[in-house]
Amino acid sequence: METEKIIDANKQGHPLLTDELKGNSKKLYIESYGCQMNMNDSEIVASILAENDFNTTQYIEDADLVLVNTCSIRDKAEQTIRKRLQKYNSVKKINPNMKVGVLGCMAERLKSKFLDEEKIVDLVVGPDAYKDLPNLLEEVNAGRDAVNVVLSKEETYGDIAPVRLNSNGVSAFVSITRGCDNMCTFCVVPFTRGRERSRDPKSIIEEIQDLKDKNFKEITLLGQNVDSYLWYGGGLKKDFDKASDIAKATAVHFSHLLDLVASTFPTLRIRFFTNNPQDLEIEVLHVMAKHPNICRYLHLPVQSGSTSVLERMNRQHTREEYMELIDNIRKIIPGTAISQDMIIGFCDETEEEHKDTLSMMEYVQYDYGFMFAYSERPGTLAAKKLEDNVPNEVKKRRLNEVIQLQRNLSNKNTEKYIGQTIEVLIEGTSKKSNEHWMSRNSQNYVAVFPKGNEKVGDYVQVRVDECTSATLIGEAVSAPQETPFQ
Ligand code: SAH
Ligand code: F3S
Repeated sequence: METEKIIDANKQGHPLLTDELKGNSKKLYIESYGCQMNMNDSEIVASILAENDFNTTQYIEDADLVLVNTCSIRDKAEQTIRKRLQKYNSVKKINPNMKVGVLGCMAERLKSKFLDEEKIVDLVVGPDAYKDLPNLLEEVNAGRDAVNVVLSKEETYGDIAPVRLNSNGVSAFVSITRGCDNMCTFCVVPFTRGRERSRDPKSIIEEIQDLKDKNFKEITLLGQNVDSYLWYGGGLKKDFDKASDIAKATAVHFSHLLDLVASTFPTLRIRFFTNNPQDLEIEVLHVMAKHPNICRYLHLPVQSGSTSVLERMNRQHTREEYMELIDNIRKIIPGTAISQDMIIGFCDETEEEHKDTLSMMEYVQYDYGFMFAYSERPGTLAAKKLEDNVPNEVKKRRLNEVIQLQRNLSNKNTEKYIGQTIEVLIEGTSKKSNEHWMSRNSQNYVAVFPKGNEKVGDYVQVRVDECTSATLIGEAVSAPQETPFQ
């Protein structure tokens, strides 16, 4: 998942909530950091608060309540949020009635410590406690600090229709699992987001139907690890073995869910992430091959190309197994774009292990990548058992090598499109030019082209004439359509 990218839910002042709920009198300013899961959670929070007299505002100065949905994945992410809290503090000096709440992973990690450390925080709410927000706000209004960081074994917010914030009206996220049971040694997520649980397929289908009715064209199924989606009538994945035979026989795995979604909504584009190489079943690849409306794109974090590092990270696969999976993807769904996450300079990483990462990248020829220097997180297994002993300058140098290599691979992969005609879905106006559309192909490449008689949400065939490192540039060569061409 893309991390540390600031998604200010209100930057574009998306009017959905404010327009629809004119009776509401209070103003919520909500800002999201970190992964798409957080963005989606903020939409759930906005939905819960919409029932409690709140509209959203894009102006922090106007807000009665400021909420920041936080990320703990790396130290830098937490530092960014601390800086934002200082900004809120300066606004609070002008508007002392404004309340400030911290949501998400940092709230979960630091719990009530937040109230002592950051004097301006009135409210601390963990990722599973958002339904308690109205009660917690009452506490705050009565002059008491409020904290709820209880992690749940059941909560999936399946019954809450998220308010689409900052939406382009074309693509939307739909959460299918919460939490993670994998315990990668470097990762704070299992501690901040709790046990893994899957959402009822019925509520997933209903949410997608609602999006389709609202003319959305593309949905992305979201989870920390979508491959471990498992529905057998409720309960935690770890209890599956104890479930009745009937429950086991009728269990819905990710491949089933994907098949169900793709066949129920043949005119919608379906995306999903994140996949985990150790849990990705070959059946998922066959389901992708069967449905042209499932996008040809897999985000498949590997973290390292070295089996020994993978072992220290508690990733349950070897270098060779990952390569075999890549071979299968190339065979079963040719033309699929693949992206990676890499952690550089993990505990005890040797030069040879680092070279394994570089050669893995060459092998896979990744289309994109998200690369990070290892950042030790308190409480994780690595923090307890391993030493963060790769010197900073070595981490930096290795990270630069990995980034440079990815840049070369991305350039090469982008250039391959020159001369081809691709089907794209128009998401909006290009950021750089009012006269151009911004669109994406199935492989998730951004394509820009001069506007004609198309509109947002249309499909069109584009001939690619040139490219920058990450963007395809071309011209429409077909009339627009409201549904995919294939
Ligand atoms: N399962 C989620 C993982 C979320 S974390 C997903 O696949 O999206 C997103 C990425 O952050 C991870 O894949 C990993 O590459 C990186 N990451 C996680 N913990 C980290 C740490 N302690 N230091 C550096 N990068 C980390
Ligand atoms: Fe983190 Fe590994 Fe889960 S990276 S989110 S513990 S799959």
